Amino acid sequence: MKLKFSLAIGCAVAMIGTSAAAQEEFAPEKIKQGAGMYSQHCAPCHGPRMADPEGAFDLRTFPTDQKNRFLNSVTKGKNSMPPWGGLFSADEIESLWAYVMAGEKKR
Ligand code: HEC
Repeated sequence: MKLKFSLAIGCAVAMIGTSAAAQEEFAPEKIKQGAGMYSQHCAPCHGPRMADPEGAFDLRTFPTDQKNRFLNSVTKGKNSMPPWGGLFSADEIESLWAYVMAGEKKR
């Protein structure tokens, strides 16, 4: 009983540790730039302010530890999502990542 309890505490601490480590710091200007790009180019499918994505991916649930997947899918497109690499620079796509990760609250 005592062992089980300390195991549970250990897991909880480990989980808190991981989520804190996965959180990146973003410059406010980058988040803002990403938000502007998002509302113009992504909102029509993913929903205004990432809410109400209907058929498209709900970006609020995008895994925080899969940045490469994000950059790749946004640059090259995925199924019915068009590729954005021709329109945006790598740096601009980084701003989209900043916005999606920081979420609506921080913009
Ligand atoms: C024409 C509609 C449309 C637009 C505009 C659009 N998306 Fe998407 N997006 C989709 C759809 C549909 C999916 C789901 C693709 C799938 O998994 O089949 C998707 C998926 C994604 C994913 C998840 C990819 C993955 O690896 O699973 C990301 C990230 C994403 N979109 C980002 C963006 C960003 C950033 C923009 C703006 C630059 C954008 N999308 C604009 C339709 C769109």
